[in-house]
Amino acid sequence: MKILGIETSCDDTGIAIYDDENGLIFNEKFNQSLIHNKYGGVVPEIASREHTLNISFLIEKISKNLNINFKKINAIAYTCGPGLIGSLLVGATFGSALAYSLNIPTVLVNHLEAHLISIMMEKKCPIFPFIGMLVSGKHTELIYAHKFGKYSLLGKTRDDSAGEVFDKVAKNLNLNYPGGPEIAKISKFGNFNKYFFPRPMLKTNNLDFSFSGLKTAVVNFIKKQSMLDFQLISDVANAFEESITDVLVTKCKHALKKTRLKRLVISGGVSANILLRRKLRHMVSKCKGEIFFVRPEFCTDNAAMIAYLGMLKFQLNQIQSNLNIYVDPKLKIYNSKMNLNFISNI
Ligand code: KG4
Ligand code: ZN
Repeated sequence: MKILGIETSCDDTGIAIYDDENGLIFNEKFNQSLIHNKYGGVVPEIASREHTLNISFLIEKISKNLNINFKKINAIAYTCGPGLIGSLLVGATFGSALAYSLNIPTVLVNHLEAHLISIMMEKKCPIFPFIGMLVSGKHTELIYAHKFGKYSLLGKTRDDSAGEVFDKVAKNLNLNYPGGPEIAKISKFGNFNKYFFPRPMLKTNNLDFSFSGLKTAVVNFIKKQSMLDFQLISDVANAFEESITDVLVTKCKHALKKTRLKRLVISGGVSANILLRRKLRHMVSKCKGEIFFVRPEFCTDNAAMIAYLGMLKFQLNQIQSNLNIYVDPKLKIYNSKMNLNFISNI
């Protein structure tokens, strides 16, 4: 059984094919960051136009380079949300048209669920229930994963996402987009503890985050400097990375304590961050829990996770007619919010 997955929720165009016997047999993506870099962030209209060019190119590549008979594909899975409406529509219409031409169904895939469930492609993967922290360019959420398809919200950011703040701080430090990997690279040259930025929301009795105050503190600090040289940029990047990772790790610790669960899954672009991984490993081992990481190339957006989740949903017959095109830019992963007050206080 083979499922072709299409990912176009933001600025990465990805196509993958997941085969239930052989695993991933195709997985490629076009990253548009060089194009958006000069604007300091993703320009939605440009992203959609690039998707239309890249997507046909990737499909042609499959037919030229691989001996894949398109008639052997059982369904087309596409990201239906959340994401940029124009970008989502490119993947949805292309996927539906391809499915129509092959006379096969489509499978709707929630991008956030795909990030979370991509952990199941790893050798070391958790059993349900587990806590999932989704840290991407637009989301920072703590999720209680009861079972496949059933997720409750434990807490989320009240303003900016962690990824957004990485990108914003990087932009103010004159670093490239996306900012997360750039901050991580340069912060290694920074002096530990040279500067100190706030760790917001750590003392609140809930699992929500708020990063806009931290963002403002760092940006205001940068604006006060007369000159940004390499050492200053490295020191600020170091202090910022220490602060934001402390917040993410502490909230995960509180989530484990509040729910009394021991398994923690981290996914989404920011989960590629090495300092965050190191601190999480340390925290989880102290709590006698278990941590599960998605491999770095699957942390950021990719179609492998879409094809994989598409396969799981196809096996459960969660398919739809290729004539229905559906996207929801604000789609959520959770269907309920969990009230944790009855368990134990933080
Ligand atoms: O999951 P993702 O690829 O796209 C969304 O679904 O939003 O996440 C992109 C975000 C960007 O904000 C990027 O700066 C951040 O992930 N990111 C990182 C790292 N790699 C990517 N943040 C911190 N450290 C990294 N190594
Ligand atoms: Zn993503």
